[in-house]
Amino acid sequence: MRQDIESILYDSDCIRDRVLQMGARIARDYRDKDLLLVGVLKGSFVFLADLARSIDLPVEVDFMVVSSYGSGTESSGVLTIAKDLSVSVEGRHVLIVEDIVDSGLTLSLLTEDLRSRGAASVQVAVLLEKDVPRSHQVECAYSAFHCPDAFLVGYGLDYAERYRNLPYIGILKPEVYEDRAQCPDAR
Ligand code: PRP
Repeated sequence: MRQDIESILYDSDCIRDRVLQMGARIARDYRDKDLLLVGVLKGSFVFLADLARSIDLPVEVDFMVVSSYGSGTESSGVLTIAKDLSVSVEGRHVLIVEDIVDSGLTLSLLTEDLRSRGAASVQVAVLLEKDVPRSHQVECAYSAFHCPDAFLVGYGLDYAERYRNLPYIGILKPEVYEDRAQCPDAR
């Protein structure tokens, strides 16, 4: 897979350090609280696995599959829930775990949705915050990296469902997605 990567932006040591720091902060902030981690699939699965193990508290973990749509200039959008939580968030302290925030639409809608269900608190832990103008404001209490607006893959992030298993975050070579755009069935 390395031959498809232009450059490595964050290697596995660098990611591990940042995730450990984040986990320690979360453990301090939630030490007296009953914490529910909500992983947003699929992109968060690697980050969540590492982050959860770096939080020295008996947290509960659950998952959602969501998608959002709405144009960048609209003030609202629509959240579609393909897989919902298996537990109620009422009265719970919820920490949403996401791989990346781009426009901010998904996280702003999901945060609002979980608050409307009566969660005691809803905060966000994100691996990557893209340095782009945000059409929807999201408050990320925990954020590992501010990243450039590039085609990133690895550590959960995909291109056409591939590369999520790379142990680092890299920039995909343009010829990979340009080739595939010309020949969509190519593997
Ligand atoms: C990605 C990411 C966020 C969303 C961020 O999900 O995991 O959910 O896009 O974009 P936004 O800030 O513009 O809303 P994606 O739809 O690629 O699905 P995946 O997690 O399965 O890769």
